[in-house]
Amino acid sequence: MRAVVERVTIDHVGHRGDGVSLDAGDTVYVPYTLGGETVEVDAGSHPDRRKLLAVDVASPARIEPFCPHFGVCGGCAIQHWAAEPYHAWKRGIVVETLAQAGIDCEVAPLVDAHGAGRRRVTLHGRFGTHNVLKVGFAAASSHDVIPIHRCPILDPALDGALDAAWALAEPLTSKMPVTKPLDIQVTATATGLDVDIRGSGPLPTRLVTALSHVAEQHRLARLTRHGELVLQRLPPTLQMGRAEVTLPPGSFLQATVAGEETLAALVAECVGKAKEVADLFCGVGPFALRLAEKSRVAAYDSDAGAVAALAKAARTPGLKPIKAEPRDLFRRPLVPPELRDFDAVVFDPPRQGAQAQALKLAASKVPVVIAVSCNVATFARDARLLIDGGYKIETVVPVDQFRHTPHVELIARFTR
Ligand SMILES: C[S@@+](CC[C@H](N)C(=O)[O-])C[C@H]1O[C@@H](n2cnc3c(N)ncnc32)[C@H](O)[C@@H]1O
Repeated sequence: MRAVVERVTIDHVGHRGDGVSLDAGDTVYVPYTLGGETVEVDAGSHPDRRKLLAVDVASPARIEPFCPHFGVCGGCAIQHWAAEPYHAWKRGIVVETLAQAGIDCEVAPLVDAHGAGRRRVTLHGRFGTHNVLKVGFAAASSHDVIPIHRCPILDPALDGALDAAWALAEPLTSKMPVTKPLDIQVTATATGLDVDIRGSGPLPTRLVTALSHVAEQHRLARLTRHGELVLQRLPPTLQMGRAEVTLPPGSFLQATVAGEETLAALVAECVGKAKEVADLFCGVGPFALRLAEKSRVAAYDSDAGAVAALAKAARTPGLKPIKAEPRDLFRRPLVPPELRDFDAVVFDPPRQGAQAQALKLAASKVPVVIAVSCNVATFARDARLLIDGGYKIETVVPVDQFRHTPHVELIARFTR
């Protein structure tokens, strides 16, 4: 179909990373554009989203993207913007969302936590037209798979991940319906790549043999299917503070090493000299295991595998006691009598936030509450509950571990 070419000016970059045009009072989103630019778009593409065709007048802040797949691959929304305005925009997402929610607080400068890059990646595998295998990332605004052989935002510790994913996808996808996506999650660990495949269905013996062969050839630390072991050459481990954690398959892990270390250091700073600390939504324990160098910790998470891994790592000599328990904190949040003995409580929920737990914290007398969040909107809702319960919010620190995307983490300390 021929493009219906239209010329628009871009007012600013919105919270999802798209340029926003307000020409003639209509709000129109144009990915890969910047404030002040005049661009040509395809007006026939979508009611309020436009495909960028050409940049007529570029912003002085526009830079050359470093990845050849940028603009086609859906992984990165922003590689075309200079660092300084990009940092100001990301911090601005936090400032504006909190202001809209009526939360009055200081927002610190953005802390960059990209470090060496992403240490975990999920690739999709699929046979495309003419039975050609594609392994890569979802295309921008579509479920198509863009074949990728190299991704420059990955931690060098993931070297070999893409080759391994292509090799694993080959025997798996040939027997799968074209519509069914295969997900291959690869995590860089101290002992090698840890791979979990999802979407293949149960594996017949023939495929287990073929995949084990690929795992050996690519020297993977471990290969699992939906968490079930296919082959383990070495237990996949990560160092967290003084402790070594053996990763359970599929458990949550902060996206970059720098992100984990930055958040853990900020959490420790906020906890200060507290003797008894609760770590809610603890995962495999990146906060608990570091906090236990000084404090006694009670840690809870609904992922039983993560809690078991933390409990094992907690036996590291020299750490103060860590009690680690599986618990669904949405259905069974810690209630005020259980919270009574803590000097500080840390909570780091998934994107949905922790409404039920925030309500119970608001009714408690815990002197210090520390919120870590990957979603500023749900953080604002939970922060409002704490503030209405009598807590004061101190400085909010935004942390950028998902560089080139609109995602931003933050940490905030509340006191009463
Ligand atoms: C953002 S992660 C944080 C994990 C950990 N603090 C870290 O930094 O690695 C959120 C955690 O919440 C856990 N979670 C999700 N839903 C939960 C629920 N209903 N109750 C308790 N934990 C839950 C997940 O298993 C995950 O470990």
